[in-house]
Amino acid sequence: METVRTRPRQQVGTAGRLTRRQSVGALVGEADASPLKRTMGVTQLTLLSVGATLGTGIFVVLGQAVPEAGPAIVVSFVLAGVTALFSALSYAELAGMIPGSGSSYSYAYATLGELVAWVCGWCLILEYGVSVAAVAVGWGQYVNELLGLTFGVTLPDSLSAPPGAGGTLNVPAALIVVLAMVVLLRGAKESAVANVIMVGVKIAALVMFCAVAFTAFHAGNFQPLFPLGAAGMSAGAASLFFSYIGFDAASTAGEEARNPQRDLPRAIILSLVLVTALYVLVAVAALGAMPWKQFAGTEATLSEVLVRAVGGGDLWPILLSVGAVVATTSVVLTVQYGQIRILYAMSRDGLVPPLFAKVHPRTGVPRANTVIVSSFIAVLAALVPLGSLADATSIGTLFAFMLVNVAVVILRRRSPDTPRSFRVPFSPVVPVLGVGFCGYLLFSLGADTWIAFGAWMAVGLVVYGCYGIRHSKLATRDLV
Ligand code: ALA
Repeated sequence: METVRTRPRQQVGTAGRLTRRQSVGALVGEADASPLKRTMGVTQLTLLSVGATLGTGIFVVLGQAVPEAGPAIVVSFVLAGVTALFSALSYAELAGMIPGSGSSYSYAYATLGELVAWVCGWCLILEYGVSVAAVAVGWGQYVNELLGLTFGVTLPDSLSAPPGAGGTLNVPAALIVVLAMVVLLRGAKESAVANVIMVGVKIAALVMFCAVAFTAFHAGNFQPLFPLGAAGMSAGAASLFFSYIGFDAASTAGEEARNPQRDLPRAIILSLVLVTALYVLVAVAALGAMPWKQFAGTEATLSEVLVRAVGGGDLWPILLSVGAVVATTSVVLTVQYGQIRILYAMSRDGLVPPLFAKVHPRTGVPRANTVIVSSFIAVLAALVPLGSLADATSIGTLFAFMLVNVAVVILRRRSPDTPRSFRVPFSPVVPVLGVGFCGYLLFSLGADTWIAFGAWMAVGLVVYGCYGIRHSKLATRDLV
């Protein structure tokens, strides 16, 4: 275990402050002493990650991605899954080593220093907080569709769209965030039970889709497999990467897991394998049932595949909309949970105000944190259009993934003897490939997204300069 040396504060210069690191031992000690309740086993942790991953993407992404790749979209899903796997292996190693609530923020704090950790935490607000808002907007759209299909009524735009998109306030989007807050305030165990039920429903909806679509399967739809070449296949993979985001959610539950060292790596890898298998199956079933050229312009793509291939009127759209509403509900619940736990870890380190780390004695939930974070997300979901939110999510996520891969390589050199319950095979080759894949996808994002990201980071640096750098718990000690 690393040792702690106390130094007078004034001896540490600015460079020293920006690069000061948490020791792995201190992070593990903090997680061990956590007041959060340890209630989750490997099944709940896996379903937490599946809950955060399987959502809006798979229900709508084929309409956008199939025209780019043709039937090779099946290969695109495998490629995107493999890209995610490189980072998932790195997450598994670090989550097994540093089983706290801070996910990649804590891994960066132990390896790359406080400034990079802050940047990572600030990126995670995009991956978690902003993506909840994006998914909540999607939830509102599905609810409106379901109301239209079942009762023939839909909410007017003024109450279901943000300003700038024909409305004044997106009420359903804000509503689901508030409902998730109510469940989260009850406790981690209650939230996990609600999530298990919802994951069951969404997997059932996708399995039902496959079973029905396979009755109209034509092998000829896969000829030729690569009508748009390898470039089309990779473009498809970049477009559908959003549907894989979320597998790392278990890494925010290290302090509520019963046996985090053993179960976190398993949960992260298992959830990714499960989701990849399901996505590939859905893609094979969809492409087998409907020729690829007919996918362009479809929105509720999976229901359209069933209506066109097997008929059945409104039955499939209704069933699949129910599946989509449940799917997005569980993404909102699990990812909102993750954001709250990440800020909890940052607050405990002194980088955000102590209010975020205050735990309610009875429920074991960081209550003020849950209310503040949920209110912020609800306002965002009510006022900002979906497209802008989704792009911001991708860039923040890829940055965080890249840092996790770098952290594995650094910790292998710096702390080779610290116990690891899981080791990335063929390190450093696999983590370096992980960095490469994330970098490649990062540079395929548009200039607008990069500008928005730059502005977000500038705000983050000001916040750190005004608060975090002075209140950091490491301000009066230096870890070696
Ligand atoms: N992977 C999540 C979804 O597709 C973000 O909704």
